[in-house]
Amino acid sequence: MAINHPSFGTLADDRILIFDTTLRDGEQSPGFSMNLEEKLRMAEALSELGIDVMEAGFPIASPGDFESVQSIARKFAKDGPVVCGLARTSPADILSAAEAIAPAARKRIHTFVSTSPLHMRVKLRMEPDAVLALVTASVTLARNHTDDVEWSAEDGSRTEDEFLCRCVEAAIKAGATTINIPDTVGYAVPEDLFRIFDMLRRRVPGADGVIFSTHNHNDLGLAVANTLAAIRAGARQVECTVNGIGERAGNASLEEVAMAIRTRADVIGQKTGIVCENILRTSKLLVGITGFDVQPNKAIVGRNAFAHESGIHQDGMLKDAGTYEIMTPESVGWAKTSLVMGKHSGRAAFRDKLKTLGYQIGDNALNDAFRRFKDLADRKKIVYDEDISALVDDEVLRGHD
Ligand code: KIV
Ligand code: ZN
Repeated sequence: MAINHPSFGTLADDRILIFDTTLRDGEQSPGFSMNLEEKLRMAEALSELGIDVMEAGFPIASPGDFESVQSIARKFAKDGPVVCGLARTSPADILSAAEAIAPAARKRIHTFVSTSPLHMRVKLRMEPDAVLALVTASVTLARNHTDDVEWSAEDGSRTEDEFLCRCVEAAIKAGATTINIPDTVGYAVPEDLFRIFDMLRRRVPGADGVIFSTHNHNDLGLAVANTLAAIRAGARQVECTVNGIGERAGNASLEEVAMAIRTRADVIGQKTGIVCENILRTSKLLVGITGFDVQPNKAIVGRNAFAHESGIHQDGMLKDAGTYEIMTPESVGWAKTSLVMGKHSGRAAFRDKLKTLGYQIGDNALNDAFRRFKDLADRKKIVYDEDISALVDDEVLRGHD
């Protein structure tokens, strides 16, 4: 059944909404805080990336956070993504979020409370019925300020089914239009995510009129796999961050989720509004702002994601890129594949490299140069173009053809 949402109208059955929380959950991790000007630059890039909802911050957290959310809301006063502010259940939190997001053309309040036995007992020191009452009160108050309200069950993946159903039902009855079930501590495995979303969608009255959302942390390295499992069970919004930044081991990485959905559309059967060609530059902007690079082998945006060193792989790549690449580097913003010259490189890649460097040498010189290149590569981790040029120039000077 098609869902009618206040901010998105009738949502096509095959459309996944991307809720980006780089500026809230991402920014919350140690060392990743951004100032106003940096947040505005990031907000511009995220909008150009085609995200649907931008969680701009947690307005009550500090005057600086309030100002950032309000400035981002002003930036998108005419159009742009839905601007979202986070709030706990207290009226002060909700009113602060409402005020901060007010200038935006489309705005959302995202309110949350813990629902797991551990969090309710230790953190909130509240009985389940009192938490349930807070769900109704907080969503009702938020709905007085915007018709786009998201409710989250913090530590939802460790919450008992029965109580989770009651909370979700209460949130829907109070007017929530998006229901988010976070795996707050990254404890769940894909089977859990599938089961929880499937169970909620089948058991909770009114579930077919709201958007279910998934929010996964990466403590076991499963955030993206869990996100895809939730989609399979009917979640229509995914919460993620650029480069996967976030609390502890981070959140589901936006670029990995978007490219998994696109590359494996044959299995997943959904699409996003992400302009994939803008992925790399958005990732690099975040690296520039925070000063934290991504690891070289990071999927999609790591510098080795489209680099090949082994001779067998390079030979395959020169024959047909499909042999060792499942998506093109250009499709996510890289200029091209790189065949890195090192000790694992083969003769075919070496010959191709010489061609791109403008050398035309005969077989004898090529054989000698290749032997000397291998010697050099044993001593040096990466052999640069300049090293190869020097080697071939020397070979030519020595009179080889
Ligand atoms: O991980 C989490 O539970 C959160 C909520 C505030 C949505 O970030
Ligand atoms: Zn989170």
